[in-house]
Order: sequence, then structure tokens, then C-alpha cells
Amino acid sequence: MPILDSNTLESFSRSPEQTRRLGMRLGALLLSGDVICLQGNLGSGKTTLVQGMAQGWGSLDSVTSPTFVLVNEYRRPDGKRMFHLDAYRLESASEAEELDPETMLTEGSLVIEWPERVEGILPDERLWVSLAYVGEEHRDLVFSAKGARFETLLATFRQAAYGVE
Ligand SMILES: Nc1ncnc2c1ncn2[C@@H]1O[C@H](COP(=O)(O)OP(=O)(O)OP(=O)(O)O)[C@@H](O)[C@H]1O
Ligand SMILES: [Mg+2]
Repeated sequence: MPILDSNTLESFSRSPEQTRRLGMRLGALLLSGDVICLQGNLGSGKTTLVQGMAQGWGSLDSVTSPTFVLVNEYRRPDGKRMFHLDAYRLESASEAEELDPETMLTEGSLVIEWPERVEGILPDERLWVSLAYVGEEHRDLVFSAKGARFETLLATFRQAAYGVE
């Protein structure tokens, strides 16, 4: 696991199951107000990662690609919510604005696929994950934290997933 700097972590996945396991570790740490951006080409594994995230966070709801409904909502028995936005089909940042991300963040955490399409409406502080296809079942994931909350989150994730400080 190469450590690029203290706010960046690079990881490799050799299977969809491994990506889901990484997602579970990350999801377990999410709190209301957290923003996680997942950037990567079609099929790079964004939705697969979210499947693990929702499960690790504690939702029994099934995760599907929100490409057509734009935003999915997952619930947990304690009433908390996780929002899963797919910006692929958004025509403009103002269309994204109408989805009202600020309100979502007061009510839960927000995970976004294709975040680069709505960069303008995203808070500066977030965890940014870049996923890339390497081979049939091989993916490269780079986690970059911006802001104190996400630096702490990434450090805890690194510890949970790899057992290193
Ligand atoms: N290591 C891996 N991690 C994640 N997915 C993998 C891996 N190896 C193979 N796959 C396969 O790649 C595909 C990833 O699809 P997924 O829907 O997660 O991608 P996506 O990034 O959300 O794409 P889209 O931009 O279309 O929403 C799945 O079919 C999955 O089984
Ligand atoms: Mg997807």
C-alpha cells in the first residue's frame, strides 16, 4: 500500500468483493455531513464501492446505480440516511443545485458518482476517490482527503483497512 502523502492513500483491488470490502471499511466511518466523491470511468467500480459503503454504514437497503433516478437514498434502522447521487446525466450545475445537496448534508452523508460534472456545487472539503481500470478485475483506487474532517477520516480508514498509522 503506497502512501503518497499523509492525505493520500493508494490502494489496489483485485476483485469486486475486495472493492466492496474496502467500501465497507469506509462506510462504517461515515457521519452526516460527509461528502465522498467517486471519480472514474464507466465500469471502474464506483457503484461497487458504494455497495460496500452502504452495507458497512449499516443499511440493509440494496444499492443500485442511480443513473436514471439521479439520487438514491439508503436508510439505517436508527433513521439516519445516506444519499447516493449519480451526476452522469445531469445537464448543468443548476440542475444539480435543484437536488439541494446542502439539505441532504444536514440529513445524512452524500456519495457522488461523476462528481467532476458538478464540481461547482460541492463543498471544498471532501474525500475524493479516483478509481481506474487496470485489468479485468484489477482496479486502482486513490483516496485524497481535503479538510480536517476528511484527513481524520482517511487516517482512521487507513488504520482500519491496513493497520498502519
Ligand atoms: N476489482 C474490481 N472492483 C470493482 N468492480 C470490478 C472489479 N473487477 C471487476 N469489476 C466489475 O466491474 C464493474 C464495475 O461496475 P460499477 O457499476 O461498479 O462501475 P461504475 O464505476 O459505477 O460505472 P458507471 O460509471 O457506469 O456508473 C462490475 O461489473 C464489476 O463486477
Ligand atoms: Mg455507477
